[in-house]
Amino acid sequence: MSSEERPVSERSAIESVYDIAAPGFDDRFAAARETVSRFHIIDDVQRRAAQGARSVLELGVGTARLLGTIEAPLRAGIDISLPMLIKARQKVRNVVRGDAHNLPFADGSFDAILAGNAVFRYLDYDHAFREAARVLRVGGRLCLHQYAQWTLSPRSLFRSRTGDGRHVSEPDELRRPARRYGLTEIDAYFWRNLPFAPYALRVPSLLRLWSHLTLVFEKRLTETTVT
Ligand SMILES: C[S@@+](CC[C@H](N)C(=O)[O-])C[C@H]1O[C@@H](n2cnc3c(N)ncnc32)[C@H](O)[C@@H]1O
Repeated sequence: MSSEERPVSERSAIESVYDIAAPGFDDRFAAARETVSRFHIIDDVQRRAAQGARSVLELGVGTARLLGTIEAPLRAGIDISLPMLIKARQKVRNVVRGDAHNLPFADGSFDAILAGNAVFRYLDYDHAFREAARVLRVGGRLCLHQYAQWTLSPRSLFRSRTGDGRHVSEPDELRRPARRYGLTEIDAYFWRNLPFAPYALRVPSLLRLWSHLTLVFEKRLTETTVT
């Protein structure tokens, strides 16, 4: 992924997708049992990362499907899509329209930042990690979920592994820019989608069987931290 922020034309295309998706987003999400169960497992790691935090921010909050279930004295969300935010506001009061590349919050404002349901697929990693690290207090956590670019399966052996460039090929694509801004990895989870219960299974990272990953980072000040 380039180190440039996404061009405005692409940003407005992403925004339109979610403007259109907003009215049916929660229903669509709740309709399929495997999606509900899969995300219950995956979102649980986000919930645990936010445990004990007094202030929690969700990047790409959408309809606050996840943030609405987080317990914290201060919950905030940011999203580029106004129709998604209108739905979010029914669950969480403090949601604002804005871009995760340029957060309208002061340095060190949050104890935890969540980036669930793969919002990072839309973000320029360098800008997004820099901003997340800036608004996170020292000792705070960033929990980030992403999809795999490819997953080992009988079909994948015969398919080209070049995807749309939005998903992760190797976890280091996320780890490198995170480290640059003083974010130290404290946990890593890799899951494979299953078509039957429990719908997502935790697997080792070395085998390329994973279709989702979640990395949990803690902000630590080091000599190499870029400010
Ligand atoms: C797949 S939805 C996830 C919504 C929510 N996090 C969830 O778990 O259900 C991705 C969201 O990210 C938002 N988004 C995309 N690019 C963004 C950006 N640059 N800044 C803020 N939000 C963005 C979209 O508008 C959309 O609401």
